[in-house]
Amino acid sequence: MDAHHPKRAQTDHPVLPAIAERFSPYLYDPRPVEREKLLSCLEAARWAPSSYNEQPWTFILAERTDAAAFARALDCLVEPNQAWAKNAGVLILTVTSRLFKKNGKPNAACEHDIGLAAGNMALQAASLGLQAHQMIGIVPAKVRATYRIPDGHDPLTAIAIGYAAEVPADSTDPLGQRDLVPRGRKPLTETVVSSWGVSAW
Ligand SMILES: Cc1cc2nc3c(=O)[nH]c(=O)nc-3n(C[C@H](O)[C@H](O)[C@H](O)COP(=O)(O)O)c2cc1C
Repeated sequence: MDAHHPKRAQTDHPVLPAIAERFSPYLYDPRPVEREKLLSCLEAARWAPSSYNEQPWTFILAERTDAAAFARALDCLVEPNQAWAKNAGVLILTVTSRLFKKNGKPNAACEHDIGLAAGNMALQAASLGLQAHQMIGIVPAKVRATYRIPDGHDPLTAIAIGYAAEVPADSTDPLGQRDLVPRGRKPLTETVVSSWGVSAW
């Protein structure tokens, strides 16, 4: 990523390059993602830590090279997300397993662990020149019916992966304009505390 790219994080402390370069694009270049890069993203997710190493994730994969599969996955997103995700190279629907395999007890960390796996995936994507955009805006009932998700498992999010389009600084495209807005975060003084409401520093 270009040093002056509007989405490059202006961090207060040094971080890994992929963390600074990762962002959630709205304008994708509608081209496929190379299979080996996609496999690296999925492999990164595979090696995420999880509570009791349960790995409570299933990823439903749809590549744009398979038009029917891609359309089926796209149809499971809420319309505002479909409007931009339609140009991604890959769509992934995440499904979490609610119960531990070995004893059938509820896994309180299952959603947390899907998030860790998705985070690994997003950072691997960024390090390969791709970008991932996660979505809570899905229609879970549609995912369940379309892909016959069994009880004990819940559709949770979607992830678009692809090549972010290069957006000219004077873009009038409303989606493109969103990709020109710098990324922002609360300062650490707001989110790291020594006691509730008391900044750690
Ligand atoms: C779990 C999760 C769900 C999200 N859901 C949506 C969504 O449904 N639609 C959307 O446009 N962006 C969605 N986002 C993207 C966030 O808005 C984005 O990550 C946030 O604004 C920070 O921007 P950045 O990722 O570019 O740093 C989601 C992100 C996460 C992690």
